[in-house]
Amino acid sequence: MHPDLESIMLSQETIGARVQELAARLDADYAGKNPLMVCILKGSVFFYTDLLRAMKEPVELDFMSISSYGASANTSGEVRLLKDLGCKIEGRDVVVVEDIVDSGYTLSYLKRLLHSRGPASVRICALLDKVSRRVVPLDVDYKGFDCADEFVVGYGLDYAERYRTLPYIGILKRSVYEK
Ligand code: IMP
Ligand code: MG
Repeated sequence: MHPDLESIMLSQETIGARVQELAARLDADYAGKNPLMVCILKGSVFFYTDLLRAMKEPVELDFMSISSYGASANTSGEVRLLKDLGCKIEGRDVVVVEDIVDSGYTLSYLKRLLHSRGPASVRICALLDKVSRRVVPLDVDYKGFDCADEFVVGYGLDYAERYRTLPYIGILKRSVYEK
């Protein structure tokens, strides 16, 4: 285990098994629909690639980047679009793939933005859900795991751009970010 971690919350095996289950549900729900799977950079990149490779139905890929916390562990409520989709989504079934939902600001902003472009549907697939931290209402349609109110890193999730490449998800020691 990385020395900056308090403990491992989700092992590589646990994550992998859950990703297979989510992929099977998406396959069943989107059979024949050729959904547009939107990766929210950078945090969901490993979740996204594992999930899409586990799916059997054909899908299309696109990427978006939205500003989140910067180097702080707390949300500002401010959301900025850094990189937009490369394709039109009018009439498409869209699935937004995100690493973690916390306050809900990021995805509620994003859902509004996407809906304004006339898609057939927009659903949210998030690996982790910190339900107790929600500020704005937001439903996660496909959820990997509920997450306690702890700062977690690994499997794409970062603190100040670090720890993203850990193959598991762990709880970051408070001493690392409370300085
Ligand atoms: P929200 O807008 O508050 O829902 O924030 C969602 C974003 O905050 C996520 O996409 C992450 O980038 C970031 N975030 C929230 N909690 C954590 C965490 O525990 N570890 C790493 N990033 C987090
Ligand atoms: Mg993120």
